[in-house]
Amino acid sequence: MKVTIDGIEIDVPKGTTILQAARMIGKKVAPPAMCYYSKLKTTGGYCRTCIVKVTKASAQNPNPIPKPVASCRTEVADGMEVQNFTSQEVIEARKGVVEFLLINHPLDCPICDQAGECKLQDLGYEHGSAKTRYEFKRREYEMIDIGDKIKLHMNRCILCYRCVKLCDQLTDKRVHGVIHRGDAAEISTYIKNVIDNDFSGNVIDVCPVGALTDRTFRFKQRVWFTKPVDAKRNCDKCSGKVRLWLKGEEVLRVTARMDEWGEVEDFICNACRFEKKRKSDWTIEGPSKIDRHSVISQNHYEHLNELKVKAMKQQKALGFMPFDKRP
Ligand code: SF4
Ligand code: FES
Repeated sequence: MKVTIDGIEIDVPKGTTILQAARMIGKKVAPPAMCYYSKLKTTGGYCRTCIVKVTKASAQNPNPIPKPVASCRTEVADGMEVQNFTSQEVIEARKGVVEFLLINHPLDCPICDQAGECKLQDLGYEHGSAKTRYEFKRREYEMIDIGDKIKLHMNRCILCYRCVKLCDQLTDKRVHGVIHRGDAAEISTYIKNVIDNDFSGNVIDVCPVGALTDRTFRFKQRVWFTKPVDAKRNCDKCSGKVRLWLKGEEVLRVTARMDEWGEVEDFICNACRFEKKRKSDWTIEGPSKIDRHSVISQNHYEHLNELKVKAMKQQKALGFMPFDKRP
């Protein structure tokens, strides 16, 4: 099926959503996604950040769809034409979505462990507006203790349902979900009942905001001062392929490896995540690939090397002679 997104045409199999088609083209047209998670089934449709404008429904029906659609839940039709970043209407509508997502979200980035890798922070920066029009008190919650490994800050939750879907699909019993509806909706306190499961730590990685964070890493270091490397070990529960976040020789945190969309490549077990905190527990494979635009790539030696190679190539092209080779 042929679909055109922001003027770029691509052929995709039947059943592909607009979001998936956009990701096949690449980052320049792919809408942001706060609830869709390609590694989990039935995600998407909750946050509305991925809205796009369908200017032509299909080859048979050239009419536009009269309102923005959630691209993660809308399948492409042959001949469909879509606008994302090229539509001012979408950009304005998305700004409104971000404003709604931030209505109850505390602006506590300076003390939040997710800062630097928070999808809402990126979304607010790239698609939000500078001011809020909200004048009411933000929601507050009683602190819920879900154990010594994972910290829940309910006031940061954007109700994306990813942790619910993860527990449903990865652990053997799902006992938490979203209770109440609308303004009163919240992740149920029963989340504490899944925390003993071997794969429960993955809720930290799929949570796009700082609602679920790693207690063993909490307040230890800003993430951009750490050095991420890919490492592995033989594990009988998971693939053992992880990302270590180092400060010198110290392993401050272990997470799953993330792909270019910020999604987990392989879910990892709690033993790898929480119990293997010595460098000698791991075989280091090399520096992790981090998006150049991420604050985490600051001082990342992989990029420093890249920059050095680029600078040397430019110097060579311009006929510069390195200091050590000068007569
Ligand atoms: S706790 Fe995180 S992953 Fe779970 S619904 Fe809230 S924002 Fe989503
Ligand atoms: S990513 Fe599509 S609605 Fe959330």
